[in-house]
Amino acid sequence: MLFLVLGRGKTGSLVAQVASERGHSVRVVGEEENRNAAALTAPVLAGFDAVIDFTTPEAAVQNMRACLANAARVVVGTTGWYQHLQAMKDLCLRKDAALLYSTNFSVGVQALFRLARDLAAAVPGYRFSITETHHATKVDAPSGTALSLKKIVEHTVPGAVVEIVSKREGEVPGIHLLEARSENDCLELRHEAFSRRGFAEGAVRAAEWIAGKTGCWDFQEVFQSLA
Ligand SMILES: NC(=O)c1ccc[n+]([C@@H]2O[C@H](COP(=O)([O-])OP(=O)(O)OC[C@H]3O[C@@H](n4cnc5c(N)ncnc54)[C@H](OP(=O)(O)O)[C@@H]3O)[C@@H](O)[C@H]2O)c1
Repeated sequence: MLFLVLGRGKTGSLVAQVASERGHSVRVVGEEENRNAAALTAPVLAGFDAVIDFTTPEAAVQNMRACLANAARVVVGTTGWYQHLQAMKDLCLRKDAALLYSTNFSVGVQALFRLARDLAAAVPGYRFSITETHHATKVDAPSGTALSLKKIVEHTVPGAVVEIVSKREGEVPGIHLLEARSENDCLELRHEAFSRRGFAEGAVRAAEWIAGKTGCWDFQEVFQSLA
């Protein structure tokens, strides 16, 4: 397949590498060539099976608008833009485009989300808290993944209020800890990414999956059907 990767940063570069390793052809576009989504014209987009975005929240929204308006298929790994999610879904459906997004493209974290739902349902009277640790250059806090975990628990246990503690240190790719505590005991679910590779592999597999499709999906809905 032929993929267009947006962003030459830490994750975008790795996504391009993983896509090549999986036998795909890849073009990577950085900020200079694609300011205000300038590179995402209809003729350019028509040549790609899917676009994969790992940029910034502002750029991702501009990129999505351009891709979806031209009926392209886009996988969005960038976080921090979800106040625009409904508008993007509406545009996607109106234009017969395809959008697949996630705060975390690691299959392990998707499993963590499922386990978090089960844990919250099993011990609804417990106090829940989340601690997330990431590298010092991460721009958003709390992480999008921690916010997803919080939403899952609060949705499963009506009335629960889940606190998030964010730590920024060194080169940590990402650690998420969900704790459920009572007077008597404590349960923990913990995911640690050893590198960014899990995100990159998940995003490339998502791009393979979305090629030729139309519609909108959260990665949670599809990760178990990936090749
Ligand atoms: N969902 C997940 O699984 C997951 C995993 C890891 C990270 N993320 C998210 O992905 C995003 C990127 O993370 P990162 O660690 O890779 O950040 P990063 O290293 O700072 O890379 C961001 C890159 O985006 C590029 N960029 C900015 N505007 C652009 C535009 N209009 N067109 C194309 N490229 C543009 C920048 O310039 P150049 O390309 O010119 O250098 C920069 O290198 C963040 O929101 C992060 O939270 C999500």
